[in-house]
Amino acid sequence: MPEVIVKSRDGYEHRVPFQHGLSLMEAIREAGLDELLALCGGCCSCATCHVYVDPAFADRLPSMSEDENDLLDSSDHRAQVSRLSCQIPLSDEHDGLSVSIAPED
Ligand code: FES
Repeated sequence: MPEVIVKSRDGYEHRVPFQHGLSLMEAIREAGLDELLALCGGCCSCATCHVYVDPAFADRLPSMSEDENDLLDSSDHRAQVSRLSCQIPLSDEHDGLSVSIAPED
């Protein structure tokens, strides 16, 4: 099964297997990493699923919607590599993707 590597806020790296079609947020939550709050359940309205994505995978991510961009602007921790993990549907091309959970706002 493909997997993503997720670094939690304590710096520990978790190998998170995923099934095609799950969002990155869903895969992280299903793996039991509940520091990613994902309060809105993936509706792109809370920004509590904020992650930093390895720039090496930037060309394999969907482009950012205006809503996602606006929500990320509300974070004090926005960076060049910021994304909302609920807006990233996973497929085989994301096997090995590395992300870090952003600090809590
Ligand atoms: S889960 Fe709320 S914006 Fe992603």
